[in-house]
Amino acid sequence: MAEIGNGIVYGAETLALELTLNGREVCADVTPDQNLLTVLRGALQTTGPKCGCGIGECGACTVIVDGQAVKSCTILAAQCQGSDILTVEGLAGLAAADVAAAAAAVRTKGGMADAAGDAQAQADAGLTAGFVGETGQATGGASGDPSDVHTGEMMGKLRRSLPLHPLQQAFIDCNAVQCGYCTAGFLMVAYAYTQGHESPGREEIREAISGNLCRCTGYVQIIDAIESYVKQKSAGFPEIFAKIEAEEKAAAEAAAKAAAGSTGGHAEPGGEADGGGSGGSGAGATDPPDGGIEEVTLTDADSEAPEAKGGAA
Ligand code: FES
Ligand code: FES
Repeated sequence: MAEIGNGIVYGAETLALELTLNGREVCADVTPDQNLLTVLRGALQTTGPKCGCGIGECGACTVIVDGQAVKSCTILAAQCQGSDILTVEGLAGLAAADVAAAAAAVRTKGGMADAAGDAQAQADAGLTAGFVGETGQATGGASGDPSDVHTGEMMGKLRRSLPLHPLQQAFIDCNAVQCGYCTAGFLMVAYAYTQGHESPGREEIREAISGNLCRCTGYVQIIDAIESYVKQKSAGFPEIFAKIEAEEKAAAEAAAKAAAGSTGGHAEPGGEADGGGSGGSGAGATDPPDGGIEEVTLTDADSEAPEAKGGAA
């Protein structure tokens, strides 16, 4: 047996592979000849990456290894000793942080614009919506601290509002998914690419995904989806913040109505409610937790493309 570096020992039956997978430290016993895709789908039970060709041609197996999109059928698992790996299963978990980061970046730019007397630019971009809910008062572009969007309260709101990553949502909105077998690979290559490219055009996007194949969509919708995501990201995802604000407003109005009804009910002789509904009179009626936004539980089914019949084992 001989160790040739990076923990790879030729002649050994198995290797104890340790890496970070979607933010969790995991380990698995692998043989030196197993590729990463096999280990992900087998020992690590992470079946988002698909096996389309097994020889580096289709991109269905694409994952992100230490920030780089990699076709996982083309590298040995042992080469990933100590690596940080992101698969489609981990994408939704990054949604809140990514949206907050994009909003903070835009807010910084917006603040500069505001300082120059262009406050309307932020209002038009819908940025104010996100920050009013955060602090209870409008912050105004130039005076606000971009790090505000990373506070626990706002991150909690974003997590509850984003069962999917905005990139995944863009694929849905643009009908960029048919059978779905290629989708995890496209999502990962697009995510890696857009992390490093702020505002690519359609031709650049087309080039970026040229290593991935789709038998169903004809690529136009996939490019549409990535382009749409890039535009939303560079605007700081104003629609997401506007949606959160609208939901909080609706919840507050409903709670106020319920509280008013409840108060009326207690005033009635006999202690019976008088049609105030089931809103109750406790703290939940006037101050619903988290602005009344529904808790959403993520499942693998949210992020994983459907398995194709007869596809990867
Ligand atoms: S399965 Fe890896 S590129 Fe096709
Ligand atoms: S192969 Fe791309 S959606 Fe079917």
